[in-house]
Amino acid sequence: MPKLFKWGASISEYQNSGAFHCADSNWTRWEKSTHPNGISRIKNGDASGCSADFWNRYAHDIELMKQLKLNSFRFSIAWERIEPQEGIFDEEALKHYDQVIDALIAADIEPMITLHHFTHPGWFEDFGAFEHEENIAYFVRFAKKIFERFGHKVTLWNTINEPTIYMFQGYLPFNSVFPPGQKNFGLGLRVLRNLMHAHAEVYYTLKKMKHGKKAQIGLVHQYLKFKPYHWWNLPEYAPGLMLNYMMNDLVLNYCKTGNFRIPLPFTHYLAYSTGEQKPPMDFIGLNYYSRVLVTFNAQSKDLLQPTCYPHETMTDMPYAIYGKGLYEAIADVSCIGVPIYITENGIADHKDDRRATFINDYTENLFRAIEDGYDVRGYYYWSLTDNFEWDMGYSMKFGLCAVNLQTQERTIRDGAWQYARIIEMAQSATA
Ligand code: BGC
Repeated sequence: MPKLFKWGASISEYQNSGAFHCADSNWTRWEKSTHPNGISRIKNGDASGCSADFWNRYAHDIELMKQLKLNSFRFSIAWERIEPQEGIFDEEALKHYDQVIDALIAADIEPMITLHHFTHPGWFEDFGAFEHEENIAYFVRFAKKIFERFGHKVTLWNTINEPTIYMFQGYLPFNSVFPPGQKNFGLGLRVLRNLMHAHAEVYYTLKKMKHGKKAQIGLVHQYLKFKPYHWWNLPEYAPGLMLNYMMNDLVLNYCKTGNFRIPLPFTHYLAYSTGEQKPPMDFIGLNYYSRVLVTFNAQSKDLLQPTCYPHETMTDMPYAIYGKGLYEAIADVSCIGVPIYITENGIADHKDDRRATFINDYTENLFRAIEDGYDVRGYYYWSLTDNFEWDMGYSMKFGLCAVNLQTQERTIRDGAWQYARIIEMAQSATA
């Protein structure tokens, strides 16, 4: 086990502080809009509100991190809060993040910043966000501003969280549960390509800045594997092949070579290359939860349905506990040839009766991967506190700490103590 291994938890500003502090963003608009039939886009009609109010309660949350033995913390900076109007940066918000970073460092908890975690300013959305290549310049300007300000004290940086999920949830015809809710496959691919370009642009720009050399800058990829319930069932097997290519191989190839190419006729206009023939990143952030096992049901309007085998335990999300998959994911992304941080891994478990099992199962596989020589440098549990789970609202309880949304009282869940014990054990083994 590497001595300097990071044991952390992850949050994102919008999910853990809500829209309350975030002015006008793609997600505040999405929350307010409804489906054409008037029904809320968010489960149970939930509104993010101020969520777990990390914005005001970060000092207390840092104490919780200490109790849980964490030595690192991943959070996102809300672009919509920093630059509410195009070109106008909010000094108060910058000061706020300065204080959060200082408080983490004072508590010996290494900050890891994410620059884009699904949300951005309303004006950027109005410009067409990542649908247009020319808009990348706005994101680069924001990233430079943040790095200028915090680059001297923060070493770990993520550019973009989960480009494939941003595309999958926001643009694919059978999905579109995230803004902008476009059902347009071609546009989705263009967005994915532009996100790859945006990442590289930010990466190379920050690397050239003061403190850029010592910074470790990565891209966060959600490793999502679709597997057929019955390996011999073609309708279950075939869509998985295409989805796996789109959701994994395309991005992993890009990460390895800097070349983004879709191997289909008439798609050359979607190609992008950094021209460097090497990974445009210092590390890869790996978000891993489970694999998606699909059954085919011709009677249902959702032809493909997520499920699990009878011997498996489901999480509250529509997937099972599948720790072995973390090993597989690590082995697969290691083809990029850069260090790996597990930037997210966690379980939605409102009864807290599977969290400890989950943590054991996944960390066992993490330890096995490290023993087998894979260069994994950190593991961040999702999430520190219960969070606004996008279209699922507050129905999913991922937190190491339960949050009473009325009183904001936090309680460390029993299952979370297992994480603290594992950290202690791992650290004493390397001491
Ligand atoms: C996202 C988080 C989300 C988590 C749990 C990841 O895809 O980065 O924002 O809360 O999964 O579903």
